[in-house]
Amino acid sequence: MKQDYAHEPYRIKMVEPIRTTDKNQRRKLLRDAGYNVFGLRSEDVYIDLLTDSGTGAMSQEQWAAMMRGDEAYAGSRSYYRLVDVVKDLTNYAYVIPTHQGRGAEQVALPYFVDHSGMCFISNTHFDTTRAHVEIAGAEALDCATGAAYDTETYHPFKGNVNTDRLQQLIQERGAEQIAGIILTLTNNSAGGQPVSLENIRSVHDIARSHGIPIIVDGARIAENAYFIKQREKGYASWSIRELVQEQLRYGDLFLMSAKKDGLVNIGGLIAIREDEALFRHCRTSIVPLEGFPTYGGMSGRDMEATAVGLQEVLDEAYLAHRIDQARFLGDLLREAGIPIQWPTGGHAVFVDCARFAPHIPYYRFPAQSVTNALYIESGVRGVEIGSLLLGRDPRTQKNLQSPLELMRLTIPRRTYSYHQLRLVAEGVKAVYRQREKLKGYVFEYEPPVLRHFTARLKPE
Ligand code: F0G
Repeated sequence: MKQDYAHEPYRIKMVEPIRTTDKNQRRKLLRDAGYNVFGLRSEDVYIDLLTDSGTGAMSQEQWAAMMRGDEAYAGSRSYYRLVDVVKDLTNYAYVIPTHQGRGAEQVALPYFVDHSGMCFISNTHFDTTRAHVEIAGAEALDCATGAAYDTETYHPFKGNVNTDRLQQLIQERGAEQIAGIILTLTNNSAGGQPVSLENIRSVHDIARSHGIPIIVDGARIAENAYFIKQREKGYASWSIRELVQEQLRYGDLFLMSAKKDGLVNIGGLIAIREDEALFRHCRTSIVPLEGFPTYGGMSGRDMEATAVGLQEVLDEAYLAHRIDQARFLGDLLREAGIPIQWPTGGHAVFVDCARFAPHIPYYRFPAQSVTNALYIESGVRGVEIGSLLLGRDPRTQKNLQSPLELMRLTIPRRTYSYHQLRLVAEGVKAVYRQREKLKGYVFEYEPPVLRHFTARLKPE
């Protein structure tokens, strides 16, 4: 390796066999899956970069902790262990587990929507967050910095909120119409890009002056802390724990998919700074939605593993390796002239497919075309984050055009080697060499909602 990328701070104790297939097999498998990688069996995937959500490896301490799981319906010992860890990390007063991040969203977000015409503003809403905002009867407005949409130009904090636009939106809509500001840390949909503490503080000042609550969607808050330590002036000597706490100092509510920085396969969290009424709301509505408040859809053993994972994720050696794996893959692609969201984000490399395959229009899904070609080329499964995912305008039924057409190569935690990532890069490069031949896709079957998961496509 030319550059110095952080070494693995672990060795492998247990392995899961994976198998390779040949190109002819993959052509058939993909056709049978309706040219939609969500329809593939994972057994037919060699390197699975669909998501970093719940797909990582747990540590020996996490597996050992699972043996201590207390599966009591009410008042489980494992719940109290998790609460202690989360309170210690967040300095928030109330903690409720949920089965995963979207569970936390569905329980907590409706609390903030108490009249019609309200909206949430976020740097970028993750899809499920957007869905739960809309189910709660509010509108989801994205307000990312302009740098997020310019994949070529370096910016250390492309995940930031555009604070001028935020103020303008508050003026236009009226503060009483803003249900909350959602800080997505890191900003997944913009390329796993970090948000600076300076930006978090500015958002906080604006929100406070209008009495608007701040909700931290902190699925990758430790990764965000690592970027702050690396890139923002004045924080190099801070610990990751201190930086996580500092980010949370500006929030009123913390929602977390523990499947990311909780380092577990399933789990989520709600933590509330001090609002007792919000806590009462969550404790009441969680019962029919997720489960009794001391388990919220999680088993005792999963709460134990999460309690350990939330501490392990603060280890800087772990984070250095984690972030460097993504950087390594990003660097290999960039060296080959392949357009990516630059700099590389924390959990994934996002290939800019509008520039990779400019001859395919958005309504023929360029990023889906690249994703499919990569699977056939090398057995690697990425995922489209572009106009296929975005869907149609509910009023006009027209295909919406996403501002970015991305293929996300998402790196699971502690799972693949640098060598395997090199193979991924070789696959992308091989597709890039033949990019003029890539074809767009049309629908064979288009589901009415969340179409990208179950759509069946065919090459045009
Ligand atoms: N918020 C963010 C920023 C996310 O990335 C996700 C999930 C969620 C909330 C929802 O959490 O899946 O536990 O219900 N992101 C996954 C992904 C699915 O692939 O990016 P969940």
